[in-house]
Amino acid sequence: MAQIKIDLDRQIGPIDRKIYGNFVEHLGRCIYGGLYDPGSPLSGDNGFRTDVLEAVRALQVPILRYPGGNFVSGYHWRDGVGPRESRPKRLELAWNSLESNQFGTDDFIEFCRDANTEPYLCANLGNGTLDEAAAWVEYCNGSKDTEFANLRRRHGYEQPHQVKYWGLGNEVYGSWQIGHKSAGDYAKSALEFAKVMKWTDPSIKLVACGGQEVDWDWEVLKTCGGSVNYLSAHFYFGPSKEDDPHYSLCAHVSRVEEYVQILWQLIQAAQRRFGWRHPLQIALDEWNVWYRSRGCPHDGRFPLAPPLLEEIYDLTDALVVGAFLNMLQRNCRAVGLACMAQLVNVIAPIFTSKDGLFRQTIYFPLLAATTLSGEVALQVHTECDDFATKDGSRRVPYLDVSATLSPTRRKLYLSVVNFHKVQPLKFKLRLADFAVKPEVTQHQISGESPQSVNRLGNESVTLRSRRMKSVKNGSTLTAPMHSMNVYEFDLL
Ligand code: AHR
Repeated sequence: MAQIKIDLDRQIGPIDRKIYGNFVEHLGRCIYGGLYDPGSPLSGDNGFRTDVLEAVRALQVPILRYPGGNFVSGYHWRDGVGPRESRPKRLELAWNSLESNQFGTDDFIEFCRDANTEPYLCANLGNGTLDEAAAWVEYCNGSKDTEFANLRRRHGYEQPHQVKYWGLGNEVYGSWQIGHKSAGDYAKSALEFAKVMKWTDPSIKLVACGGQEVDWDWEVLKTCGGSVNYLSAHFYFGPSKEDDPHYSLCAHVSRVEEYVQILWQLIQAAQRRFGWRHPLQIALDEWNVWYRSRGCPHDGRFPLAPPLLEEIYDLTDALVVGAFLNMLQRNCRAVGLACMAQLVNVIAPIFTSKDGLFRQTIYFPLLAATTLSGEVALQVHTECDDFATKDGSRRVPYLDVSATLSPTRRKLYLSVVNFHKVQPLKFKLRLADFAVKPEVTQHQISGESPQSVNRLGNESVTLRSRRMKSVKNGSTLTAPMHSMNVYEFDLL
């Protein structure tokens, strides 16, 4: 039988709640027709969909990245501030859409305040300039009698927005990006942006653009590592055509974990080599399952808010998202910030129509992670069967496990994803030198089959809870087939 052993003394470290972040981009129906829909009876006076806000608040999203994504590499922030009737309409080249600019920086900040989340802005290092980025920092954070701080005041925002987190461009390594650059060119440019943005407001924290591969990341680290607080990495994954779709998708989390650990070593090597003392961590600021609905036609039509990247997620995807969140907790020393991409409609946990919304399967592992986890990650010893990927490159345990401790609430949370499609897996619970109250709650995400999906009016895959009695060290617990389970223990 499988076994899971937990020892409260074996702590990995504190978890930064920013790992449960999310992302909204001017893309498809994420903003327009998603979170912002001024014509809708479901929206408040400010145009924000109240049902979306409610679903976002329940998720307790700690940080929200904006405005892109690929979009940001052609975005000029001044287009999106001031009186709405004077904002220009533009051809949006990244996603072949019409950009009305009816939603911009101040609107985003208001949305963040309403949703109780921290804003994280990404600067344009595609076709944007140094002056423009510094002016954006001043517009958001300036408190002196200066042009851009005064512009913000004239727009009705007397107090600075206090935006602390700033990205230095998006996926600049990719040919699909406006202003695509080599690692060396990007690193030199990012260093200058970092300098002037920090001179404008020394309290900001910066995220340099990583490339998910060692050569790019080392080049950027060498040049910019001394001036930034995070190096980003983006991970999207789907099943492999040659393999079982369910298991090959489930295997992706271990691939990402492998690179996270390589990158963490690289960061530490750079810190040692260059003698940096400041905290420098990984920002996984775009991640998700994404393979069904990719890209957009560059056909010159430029529709307004077209339905792009509207992936409908199934239970397998929810298990992968659950395991990814477990992975973030396990790697809490390396990863200080992460953003699922994206929050609404576009590869998203929240899906709207004009009549309402539904929560996709992947909403529920996020909800479990933010509401059923502790502040400290624990090392867990797991023994269980595993499966092999068809290419033979790796063996993946059927059980993906993370444990977190809340010393303040005296709670222990054990998150167990069972990837097995047809077999419930029993495991022996081993608690090293501590005891728990015998009544334990098992919170579970499952469904009839790995292909189960949610729809408007029918959320069949959700988070359900049941009480278990008489649990103790040595008890046998069961993780049903294709399920995610969070066991909530009260420490004695
Ligand atoms: O999240 C969708 C897109 O994926 C983003 O715009 C881009 O950064 C990434 O390639």
